[in-house]
Amino acid sequence: EKNGYDHFMLKEIFEQPETIEASFRGRINTKNNEIILGRLTDVMPRILEAQRIVLIACGTSWHAALIGEYLIEELARIPVEVEYASEFRYRNPVLSSNDVVLAISQSGETADTLSAVRMAKEHQAMVLGICNVVGSSMSRETDAGIYTHAGSEIGVASTKAFTAQVTVLTLLALRLARLKQTIPEERFHAIVTDLLAAPEKIRTILQSSNHIQYIANKYRDAVNALYLGRGYLFPVALEGALKLKEISYIHAEGYAAGEMKHGPIALIDNNIPVVVVAPKDRYYEKVVSNIQEVKARKGNVIAVVSMGDNRLKGMVNDVLEIPESDPIVTPLLTVIPLQLFAYYIAVLRGCDVDQPRNLAKSVTVE
Ligand code: M6R
Repeated sequence: EKNGYDHFMLKEIFEQPETIEASFRGRINTKNNEIILGRLTDVMPRILEAQRIVLIACGTSWHAALIGEYLIEELARIPVEVEYASEFRYRNPVLSSNDVVLAISQSGETADTLSAVRMAKEHQAMVLGICNVVGSSMSRETDAGIYTHAGSEIGVASTKAFTAQVTVLTLLALRLARLKQTIPEERFHAIVTDLLAAPEKIRTILQSSNHIQYIANKYRDAVNALYLGRGYLFPVALEGALKLKEISYIHAEGYAAGEMKHGPIALIDNNIPVVVVAPKDRYYEKVVSNIQEVKARKGNVIAVVSMGDNRLKGMVNDVLEIPESDPIVTPLLTVIPLQLFAYYIAVLRGCDVDQPRNLAKSVTVE
């Protein structure tokens, strides 16, 4: 069942060009780029009227939710909040029938997320789901939703489910933007075009897996690691850090790069690897300054850069290159080398990547 791969996680990482395609198949009309989210048709008026959208999730799905927040706010101009399900359900939040709650879960069985769904329903909020497992509790208990169609994910570390969630959130944000006319026509088409091109770009990134393995070998004995990113790539930094810590047991923290000077900079010494997600986007110059700050303190920088970025190549210890694309699509591309980096480090350390210690695939305890 592993199709010749050593682990399910590696197989699932390599499946992502196809699984991302599966998540937008039938949902983008390639003749006119229109987005079709059939299961949301009936509830769309209520989403458009919502005073805010609250995204709830745990773990990796929560990182997808953070990207969702940035996407929906930037493209559709609807206020969004993101909450850990385990916090939301216990804290008596302000909720009403004017709110739309969108729960995100690969398994659809996470206890905290399900409880948050039930609580939101008691408050008369409309509750939607983004879920991978068809027929799961969450899919039955929500008013409507979108399946991610990533296929079954066996590795405990979520990979293809994450990119499928981000794809679906991008489709949702684009659909809302279209209906609300909050982005110019050309921008809309440019994003859809780049989304359609993402699977092919991911194939290119996957071809560099040997190089990523070579870099992983250099940092396999790290004790701590820091991951930095800005904008859409801040949640990607969080996700990269979570991947590393859960399968390799190296302590890793993800931070918004602008926050580094408010504390984490104290961690920098000549031992720490600092993974910086730094493609050419509107934050590029800011991120370059962050890299200079790390280098000035002798940190080892591994940068995820746009292909051909010779400036950063000359400045950092190692680079992981990704093809250029619209910033809306870069989370899907930049997370791939981080998944592979964590995977190879964990394998080199002799860890059980598919079944990391103390973790279960779906967390049905509270
Ligand atoms: O099935 P869910 O998406 O609700 O699961 C949420 C988290 O338990 C899950 O993402 C967890 O953090 C993974 N081990 C991350 O790789």
